[in-house]
Amino acid sequence: EQELGFSLKVVAVSDMYLGSLYQPEGIELEALTQLPVEKGALAALPNGKEDADNENIIKNSNADIVAEATFTDAVTGEPAISHCQWALSSGKHICTTNKGPLALSAGPLKTLAAQNQLGFEYEGVVMSGTPVLRYADQMLKGATTNRFEGIVNGTANFVLGLVEQGQSFEQAIKQAQELGYAEADPTADIGGKDVMLKVIVLANSLFGVHLATQDVACVGIDTLTETDIIQAQQDGFHWKLIGKASLLENGQVEAQVAPEKLPSDHPLAGAQGATNAVTFYTDMLGPVTVSGPGAGRIETGYALLSDIIAIHTKTHH
Ligand code: HSE
Repeated sequence: EQELGFSLKVVAVSDMYLGSLYQPEGIELEALTQLPVEKGALAALPNGKEDADNENIIKNSNADIVAEATFTDAVTGEPAISHCQWALSSGKHICTTNKGPLALSAGPLKTLAAQNQLGFEYEGVVMSGTPVLRYADQMLKGATTNRFEGIVNGTANFVLGLVEQGQSFEQAIKQAQELGYAEADPTADIGGKDVMLKVIVLANSLFGVHLATQDVACVGIDTLTETDIIQAQQDGFHWKLIGKASLLENGQVEAQVAPEKLPSDHPLAGAQGATNAVTFYTDMLGPVTVSGPGAGRIETGYALLSDIIAIHTKTHH
């Protein structure tokens, strides 16, 4: 509270998966969140019931802010999109770590938030808690940035690193799941779809455009073999899964996701493990690279905390 300058309290928790993941009987929310928990907040745990309960809890709790971090389908963006709609339509600020609401429904959700004078924050969508979206939006103001490229999937980068060290794809993916880097279904991490959605979010925010999934060519690391990766390393190269976008002079955007074989001295080649990095090509500064954690439970939790702080700051100034 002293550090934040305001106090936070958990008034309700809702997660249809929480029961199976964390054993609700033993759950200690205060330890988990390091926040005071209102009496009755735990009663809001549906513990495996239908997702419809999330609607009731989001709409009818007395929360000011809903922090949304559910398992969401990368193709439909659900249930996260509905969660955002329910929060905003019942007078609550929303922060989400899910890409779906941003990549697939940003326009309607931003309009809904603006109409109701509510905050809609989503720093965790790209590079977990590393503030790359705020950086692009606020720190590069006044400079023109018409190109970026980066490593924005922690799982793929972590897996490539372990395969370089001699592990199989299968073993490496399993470890990424255990460490909380991978999506519930790691296909989106390995096949490039996760990066595609992040490229859309970053490009739309940076260039003020409206890219859709069909606008981004997408190839994942599943097109590489373990031998390709090890051989490249022996030759002084590293395979990295790169997402990039350029704003062309005619206002069109060219965007793609694909593995690239980078020389060891390339600025993005040094990103190890689940570290992510994005290089912005600006007119005034040349290339500027933001690097930091791209995935992980604490790192993504921090994104939600930074969003809550942003909402508080915007609504109290
Ligand atoms: N599965 C994602 C990744 C999580 O590995 O980068 C963070 O968005």
